[in-house]
Amino acid sequence: MTTPLLEMRNISKRYPGVTALHDVSFALHPGEVHALVGENGAGKSTLMKILAGAEARDGGEILLEGQPIAVHGPQDAMHLGINIIYQEFNLVPHLSAAENIYLGREPAARIPGFIDFRKLYRDAQAVMDSLGVKLDVRAEVSRLSIAQQQMVEIAKATSRNSKVIAMDEPSATLTDHELHNLFALIRSLRANGVGIIYISHRMEEIFEICDRVTVLRDGELVGTKPVAETSRDEIIRMMVGRTLGESIPKRPTAPGEVLLEVRNLTRRGVFHDISFTLRQGEIVGLGGLVGAGRTEVARAIFGADSLDGGDILVRGRAVRPRTPRDAIGLGIGLVPEDRKTLGLILNMVVRENTTLANLDALSHLGVIHRRREREVAERYVTDLHIRTPGIEQEVRNLSGGNQQKVVLAKWLFTQSSLLIFDEPTRGIDVGSKVEIYELMNDLVARGAAILMISSELPELLGMSDRVLVMHEGRLAGELSREHATQERVMHLATGGE
Ligand SMILES: Nc1ncnc2c1ncn2[C@@H]1O[C@H](COP(=O)(O)OP(=O)(O)OP(=O)(O)O)[C@@H](O)[C@H]1O
Ligand SMILES: [Mg+2]
Repeated sequence: MTTPLLEMRNISKRYPGVTALHDVSFALHPGEVHALVGENGAGKSTLMKILAGAEARDGGEILLEGQPIAVHGPQDAMHLGINIIYQEFNLVPHLSAAENIYLGREPAARIPGFIDFRKLYRDAQAVMDSLGVKLDVRAEVSRLSIAQQQMVEIAKATSRNSKVIAMDEPSATLTDHELHNLFALIRSLRANGVGIIYISHRMEEIFEICDRVTVLRDGELVGTKPVAETSRDEIIRMMVGRTLGESIPKRPTAPGEVLLEVRNLTRRGVFHDISFTLRQGEIVGLGGLVGAGRTEVARAIFGADSLDGGDILVRGRAVRPRTPRDAIGLGIGLVPEDRKTLGLILNMVVRENTTLANLDALSHLGVIHRRREREVAERYVTDLHIRTPGIEQEVRNLSGGNQQKVVLAKWLFTQSSLLIFDEPTRGIDVGSKVEIYELMNDLVARGAAILMISSELPELLGMSDRVLVMHEGRLAGELSREHATQERVMHLATGGE
């Protein structure tokens, strides 16, 4: 057996109240794509942060090409050729995409101390082009969509000379087209002997691109298998300790009165003439490619962005929410795609984040009923299987998927009758996904209406009563549940007639 490219031996890591990793060993060969899977909070990101020197380990050792290495910080790891694409992006918001890609290694101009911006932009554009991404690399990162930021993060890591690249849920924000390009890139890196660690909650990706798979559960190693010698069911069993059905548990619904109607909604340069209705008891899917304007429509209905034209009617009454607070007052809730900036207050604890948007329900004469508040938070932690040492844990310390569940809890507790879910199961593990679908079923059965933006076609088709599809800022069509197929949705999403 040849020496592995990378070996992590007996790695352990404790946080107050949590054993994130216990005695985990992991090996990566040159030219191997190695999947790392496990439920939300299993320890995947922690293992990668230790590899990258972003977190200190409590025990264990790391060997690169057979030699023990000491990584005391991300710079050390980078110099050794270890690069990470972080689940929480690591970009500088007010710098351009190009500056982010080449941060710390900008091409020098002839005058010392100055950057050769022409070369910087040219090189960065070439990297983006090779990824097949249409993106102006001079644009400030804060102005890019989440998917575009993800591509910048990918470009940053893959444009370096790497021996090992770890990708922590790179696909969570990408649609098929970008994913396809990412896989092409992974294949070429693999052919050049780079070792790739690939974290994802999507089983089909593991079977498409990975050679071996390592499963973590509750911070412990369950096992490593060649992908060719295992199955989806086996991996899930290793992850969750039981078998799970493949199906999406959609329940039949009986749509009632129109809760929301939008007419000719327009935000110049972003979306145009968007009209649709949403009935009580209905789940309406909103499909389309990343950048088609779906999130922007949701934000405008929610009062987070202004409109240039059009009408919004809630239960037949014309309204114009100007802030999210207005929208919440009208019974509208938005579970945003970007939990980091829109959904949560990271330095507040789970309890506070859960009840924040609906403190009125817990207050009497301006005094918050603390015991009730704790009960509410405890209930959601149990119902949504939020993995945390307790409701008093700061949300920043939760794993990515568990943060997403807190965002959901927050909006469920507002008891809004009109819910907009923007990519509700992004980053959520397979077991918890089914629980979230069941929650959606419960919500509409109790009279709510859900508009669900989703880039995952099986979810979009599986959970929606009707599917609306957007293309370049316009509604390209509507498909009934019976008529909605992957082909038809993609046809509309890509501008087909
Ligand atoms: N800074 C921290 N302080 C306290 N606990 C932490 C910290 N970082 C991570 N944890 C805990 O360690 C455990 C493992 O978290 P990790 O982020 O590695 O999970 P993950 O497998 O990446 O999950 P996900 O699929 O949700 O991203 C979780 O219980 C998490 O709450
Ligand atoms: Mg993670």
